[in-house]
Amino acid sequence: MKHLITSALPYINGIKHLGNLIGSMLPADVYARFLRQQGETVLFICGTDEHGTPAELAALEAGLEVAEYCQRQYERQAEIYQRFGLSFDGFGRTSSPENHELTQHFYQRLDENGFIQEREINQMYSLEDDRFLPDRYVVGTCPRCGYQSARGDQCENCTSVLNPTDLIQPRSAISGSSNLEVRQSKHLFLELNLLADEVKNWVESHPHWTLLTKSIAMKWLNEGLQSRCITRDLSWGVPVPRSGFAGKVFYVWFDAPIGYLAATKAWSQQAPGRDWLSWWQGEDVEYVQFMAKDNLPFHTIMFPAAILGTREPWKLPDRIKGFNWLNYYGGKFSTSAKRGIFLDRALDVLPADCWRYALLAMSPESSDSTFTWEQLQTKVNKDLADNFGNLVNRILKFAAARFDGKIPAGGTPGEPERQLEAQCQAGMKAIARCLNDLEFRKATNALCALWASGNQYIDDRAPWALLKENPDRAAMVVRTAINLIRIYAIAVNPFMPATASQIFDALHLSASERSSSLTLAVDFCVLQPDRPFEVLPPLFHKLDDARVAELRSSFGGD
Ligand code: MF3
Ligand code: ZN
Repeated sequence: MKHLITSALPYINGIKHLGNLIGSMLPADVYARFLRQQGETVLFICGTDEHGTPAELAALEAGLEVAEYCQRQYERQAEIYQRFGLSFDGFGRTSSPENHELTQHFYQRLDENGFIQEREINQMYSLEDDRFLPDRYVVGTCPRCGYQSARGDQCENCTSVLNPTDLIQPRSAISGSSNLEVRQSKHLFLELNLLADEVKNWVESHPHWTLLTKSIAMKWLNEGLQSRCITRDLSWGVPVPRSGFAGKVFYVWFDAPIGYLAATKAWSQQAPGRDWLSWWQGEDVEYVQFMAKDNLPFHTIMFPAAILGTREPWKLPDRIKGFNWLNYYGGKFSTSAKRGIFLDRALDVLPADCWRYALLAMSPESSDSTFTWEQLQTKVNKDLADNFGNLVNRILKFAAARFDGKIPAGGTPGEPERQLEAQCQAGMKAIARCLNDLEFRKATNALCALWASGNQYIDDRAPWALLKENPDRAAMVVRTAINLIRIYAIAVNPFMPATASQIFDALHLSASERSSSLTLAVDFCVLQPDRPFEVLPPLFHKLDDARVAELRSSFGGD
């Protein structure tokens, strides 16, 4: 099997926050890196979601043409993701020609197959704003749960899918004006009701989906699938190729997931010998999607329905990993409200690997979780600096000082070494199992346990004390510990790739010595006597209380 991995496509408007990173891109990257390291063939696709009114309004605010605004934001986002070590094979754009073409193709197939209906609908028009208001720009009270800032497309409080006319006391999200009038406009509908049985069968053919994914899909299915409007009165987007539809475009949620295919096609055009259809229509592909929970209805229902309705053999996801919310001191991170920690500023505070590890350790998998600077401090100081970094540092320093910067010869491994090896085997298996199961928080716990067993071994064997009474044994312990450091670097590589590379370089590892699968990595004979190594500066710097207080006040954690 080959592995196709997609992360939800971040909206183009503005730099994303930590919640966006942990809610899809980062875990998808860890999984992609893990599988590559296991020797699997992987294609990891992401990109920017560029259509819709938020992009238009942000461009307006920036005083730029939408296309120009998107171009700049695309470059900024791509650069930041690279700095976070996100190893996308393809990072595309939904505004690309490939996506325009594929979206129109999807529509045409759906239309030919009888799944598109044309209807006159009542659209909210804001007299104050002098424009039609897209669904999410009408806000009001949710008729299901009473949440007062529900959007016209979806209530983010109870995840119900809504129509703007469902809202109680609707108003314009752009100007706040409630001077709205309903105007008639011709639109296209995707007849989800005609595809409901097929979608249901498909959902039910995946008994192993997580509770979160399954329950959101079933909630939709049980509410009964209604036909959904897939066009909008806007100019920025994929034009609708149908007479009478000039000046209208497809709804952003219709073209966005097609962006996964389009980004793969664009990737295939960047080098010879890349066959994008083998990824999207091949039998030998396992496809895993990553996203936050508000994206689940679109990925479990609407996009699958569109795919099924084309009657073409496009790949549907085998597994869908959904994440809950990462909150910031109990409240939401919010791009529009500029609340929380944005990715550009995050990198001024800590290196990418610290964020990667800490976020994965806090990842909102079984429920929403909360980011606090204090928790970040614990993860960095205890797990990274004390448990992991210190082990690497003290061993390499000691070995360099006492054994001339070379792996020492002498001694024979005994029972403690056999025990260490068994613990490593079990630890590596546990990490691999967690990652195969897409359990990222558990994977970081397993990683911590692995480091703890190494510290225990070193404390018990205390090579510094052995040096005088039994120099051969001290040499063997140091050799074992340096081999252990190599094993750790392989284990942390999917989580903290820059740190792993630093260690690989310090140990002068060859390409093949770096790229072992997790379980095969447990080999204490790779680094033989006399091989040179370098001492590393401390891998992680602690955050002291004063710094945490300062961060908390400058980022508004109170
Ligand atoms: N931009 C959307 C969000 O951030 C996700 C779109 S995923 C896609 O919520 F596949 F539809 F593009
Ligand atoms: Zn609600």
